[in-house]
Amino acid sequence: MIRCIVAATAFLMAGGEASDWAAYPERAGKYGTPYTARQLGQAWFNALMLLSDTDRCSLVLTFLLQEKGLFRALLVGKSAEGCMDTNGVVRITGRYKELIIGAGGENIAPVPVEDKIKQLAPALSNVMMVGDNRRFNVALVTLLAEGATGELPGGDNLTGAALEVNPVVKTVSAAMKDPAWQKYIEKAIEETNSDTNVCQNNNWKIQKFVIAPRDFSVQTGEFTPTMKLKRSVTEEMWKELIDPLYS
Ligand SMILES: *[C@@H]1O[C@H](CO)[C@@H](O)[C@H](O)[C@H]1NC(C)=O
Repeated sequence: MIRCIVAATAFLMAGGEASDWAAYPERAGKYGTPYTARQLGQAWFNALMLLSDTDRCSLVLTFLLQEKGLFRALLVGKSAEGCMDTNGVVRITGRYKELIIGAGGENIAPVPVEDKIKQLAPALSNVMMVGDNRRFNVALVTLLAEGATGELPGGDNLTGAALEVNPVVKTVSAAMKDPAWQKYIEKAIEETNSDTNVCQNNNWKIQKFVIAPRDFSVQTGEFTPTMKLKRSVTEEMWKELIDPLYS
């Protein structure tokens, strides 16, 4: 529970539209005094400043009013959910899945996009969308490789569905240079980009991709011990592959 001052601008910093909390009297009654979205935004921003201090993670500046009158706040790599009661006390009630915040402040949920690409391209092992504070999104992808277990990254030899993409290509290193592989991944990304159930608007689309020379794993540091993708760590780790996509 975090007490905070209600004041001004987080919502506008987030590039959102200022809708008025007072427009939701039933929510106001249920969740607290009818503050404006902007006031709630600032309150939430302040709350997150404290939260992020504790968690030692960098902070972001946005929140969304939600169906149930809860609002969402986003941290880089993690996000918290909360509501404000009649005393102006903000409660952290849970965590949301990761969100990417583009250079224009747009909120993008990467997981459904990544999942859709993997579903369309079963020869891929991992897909990580990159776009935090960037002009557009790109994807870092890994291929199904022998010995890759999540715990361990495996080697260069392809396995399973990855051997079917181009039957003469047997290794990750060869696939990285192979036009058939490029086309295979491109097709899955294009199809995902044009699926409006997944990509809500143009901000969600992936413009470019790159294949990593090995799979992600706990051992190599892309995953936590519970197999959660460490997005910012992974982005930093594979900077030399990712950055050229933006040049
Ligand atoms: C990769 O595949 C080749 C050809 O099947 C095999 O000779 C080699 O031992 C494999 N490498 C590893 C590390 O398993």
